[in-house]
Amino acid sequence: MTITDDLPVSPAERRSAELERQLAEAPGRFRVLTGDRPTGALHLGHYFGTLHNRVRLQNLGVDVFVLIADYQVLTDRDVAERLTEHVEGLLLDYLAIGLDPARTTVFNHSAVPALNQLMLPFLSLVSVAELGRNPTVKDEIAHSRQAAVSGLMYTYPVHQAADILFCKGNLVPVGQDQLPHLEITRTIARRFDERYGAVFPEPDALLSAAPLLLGTDGTKMSKSRNNSVALGASEDETARLIKGATTDADRHITYDPEARPGVSSLVLLAALCLDRDPHAVADEIGDGGAAVLKRTVTDAVNSRMAPIRARRAEYAKDMGYVRSVLRAGNERANAIAEATLDEVRDAMGTPR
Ligand code: TRP
Repeated sequence: MTITDDLPVSPAERRSAELERQLAEAPGRFRVLTGDRPTGALHLGHYFGTLHNRVRLQNLGVDVFVLIADYQVLTDRDVAERLTEHVEGLLLDYLAIGLDPARTTVFNHSAVPALNQLMLPFLSLVSVAELGRNPTVKDEIAHSRQAAVSGLMYTYPVHQAADILFCKGNLVPVGQDQLPHLEITRTIARRFDERYGAVFPEPDALLSAAPLLLGTDGTKMSKSRNNSVALGASEDETARLIKGATTDADRHITYDPEARPGVSSLVLLAALCLDRDPHAVADEIGDGGAAVLKRTVTDAVNSRMAPIRARRAEYAKDMGYVRSVLRAGNERANAIAEATLDEVRDAMGTPR
């Protein structure tokens, strides 16, 4: 597909291309860590942006860790609501898309104390000024609905360093917005090793060419805005959501993300589901207008998601098994976190 071919290539993108070459040659050299906040159902934006890529990396033979970042939910809200439901939803989605618990470790923050403990020495390695300069944090503060900004909002990038470094993750698949966080992780790893001796790798970002899918209301697709098709949605829910999507008055369908964001995002969604070029999809619909466009998108989403949804429904019949996947992942994460914390104790000279 050629969606991002015409964008300029940044140093981070060049580095990612080099990493892709290394991944193909020696996948065993990499340990990947990624995560999701359990704030709602994963949707098609997540699928094409990151989930799909995790399965690809797993299948290449990379050691993959997936964090359910439950403490990080509290960065921008007072209480983490319906946590059990959201966590179980994530687990079902992971299994349904093909993450294999024998090869991929799924765990959650609050179940791995030694990971969280790393945050204390890590906090000593960054200045308050550095934390305040993080553009992603600044943006999140600007959009926060909370009356006061909590300490966790400023420090969660340090927590994220602990997420990555507890297992010595050396590759982190991210979107652009997470790059400042990864820079903090790299700084912390470097400073720790300078002060106390070599313990941590300096992880690389693996930028995914994440396609920009908008929500059905034409704004950013979000778990909590009710403007996205969840992976686990039914065919009818999918049809209803897409039927209500924002389009425009021009009957002739084109792929032009700048001038026609709503229409183009729908075209792109169909193209991604069909593994086709968005311009070709738009040409084919031509003068069919929004009605044909929406029918095309609905059919494409429903047939692409059908096997995933079928597997999801199968797993949902055995929630005992689904919960055991997280328990086993947490056990493995705890063993690794405790071993790393011991190395940190020895390096820092704290008694044990
Ligand atoms: N901040 C990420 C998000 O909001 C989730 C996350 C938590 C994460 N810890 C991480 C991602 C470590 C990559 C690495 O989506």
